[in-house]
Amino acid sequence: MTTTASGTSGGLRFPPGFAWGAATAAYQIEGAPDADGKGPSTWDIFSHVPGNVRGGDTGDIACDSYHRYGEDVELIASLGLNSYRFSISWPRVQPTGKGSFNQAGIDYYQALLGKLAEHGITAAITLHHWDLPQALQDEGGWAVRDTACRFADYAARMAGEFGGQVARWITLNEPQVLESHGYRTGVHAPGVRDWAAAAAATHHLLLGHGLAVQAMRAVLPQGGEIGITLDSHPVQVVGDHSENLELARLAVDAELNGLFLEPLLDGRYPEHAPAALVPPDSVIADGDMATISQPIDFLGVNYYASVYLRAGDAENLRQHERKSRSELPPGVVEYRPPEFDVTTMGWLVDAEGLYEHLLRLTKQAPGLALYVTENGRAAEDYVTPEGVVNDVERVKYLHEHLDAAARAIRDGANLAGYYVWSLLDNFEWGCGYQKRFGIIYVDFATQRRIPKASARFYAQVVKANAVPPLPAR
Ligand code: FCB
Repeated sequence: MTTTASGTSGGLRFPPGFAWGAATAAYQIEGAPDADGKGPSTWDIFSHVPGNVRGGDTGDIACDSYHRYGEDVELIASLGLNSYRFSISWPRVQPTGKGSFNQAGIDYYQALLGKLAEHGITAAITLHHWDLPQALQDEGGWAVRDTACRFADYAARMAGEFGGQVARWITLNEPQVLESHGYRTGVHAPGVRDWAAAAAATHHLLLGHGLAVQAMRAVLPQGGEIGITLDSHPVQVVGDHSENLELARLAVDAELNGLFLEPLLDGRYPEHAPAALVPPDSVIADGDMATISQPIDFLGVNYYASVYLRAGDAENLRQHERKSRSELPPGVVEYRPPEFDVTTMGWLVDAEGLYEHLLRLTKQAPGLALYVTENGRAAEDYVTPEGVVNDVERVKYLHEHLDAAARAIRDGANLAGYYVWSLLDNFEWGCGYQKRFGIIYVDFATQRRIPKASARFYAQVVKANAVPPLPAR
């Protein structure tokens, strides 16, 4: 192991048995919104409302993976990946979110699992990646307690159907984003703008997770791991670290990370979170916090960027971000240090944030396995006349982040796997098809898939189980 003069390490290896994968989500890739008995989801409804998604895009066709899953699994296998993270569309398998299940929907996921097994690829299944059955939304969605119970029933049924074939189960994807974007700012489905509903949704999402873990444990054979995936936002302070700034840092950290992390790990809502975001006592029943904080087998970490705060006046924060966060105290601003690249999403490229966050989580939850369940970037990808996609920005991004992950492991982080976001270019929520995150390019007019340069780079890392040295800076 070597350390270069610039202080970055190189050529680091990953532990034997490391999970190497790519991630997707049902609404973003499947299409076929009403095929074979599927019920509508909140995203089916939301994306069809003019103005909600850029360019009027919807997930009606997306990557057509409902029909092309075989080809997609072949691509995963061709890259040498040993795991695939995908989500189950709840209304595909239970059209109204309660009552009877839809055998055709279950058969689809069974076929996908069978295809993965043929190639020796393990499955990591997300049970809820934001596409709630619309019928449950019509009764209040995550703002009402009953949804948590319905989620546990659905989770238990999925565990019963697919149990032995799934390496790891992820109950929820990024509940913080669902709460803030779905229930507070309304820029995602279900498009609710109600802070009280959002605070209730926070509790019911966490409760749904806890109830699902209990229900699944009763059904799963030995060996199936259960966890949850949180979006991760390391919060850094630049310059003068005054008391005012430190308080702001604690509040932003509590809002973006602690509101979900602390209940899961410690059974309580964070002390520093903005009061309006903390679920009120009226929605918390006796025993809920114990249900929420029962042991899990791993924590999924989605990492894209850090948040930087400094003293000063508001300036260059995007309007959308300003709306989805609580107000900062006077004299504190979020800003973008100019030395960082910014992706086409407007997100900072900051690999050190991943390194620090993995070590922080290892300290906060000693012994708990961590998986990076999403990491990647959007870029302006295009097919050259020669038919290739040379996504040099994404290669660099993956290289730096994989190096950061390897260094974190070397320095004690309990990281057991990494899933790149995403396998395919896909429906990027409110941005529609304009933002490409895939390591495989999708020509949405023809559905042709073209592995990008980043796919080849990633395949090399996976094959070597090591990340090549970073070029000297
Ligand atoms: C995450 C989502 C994922 C994808 C990436 C870019 O917040 O979990 O579905 O949209 O962002």
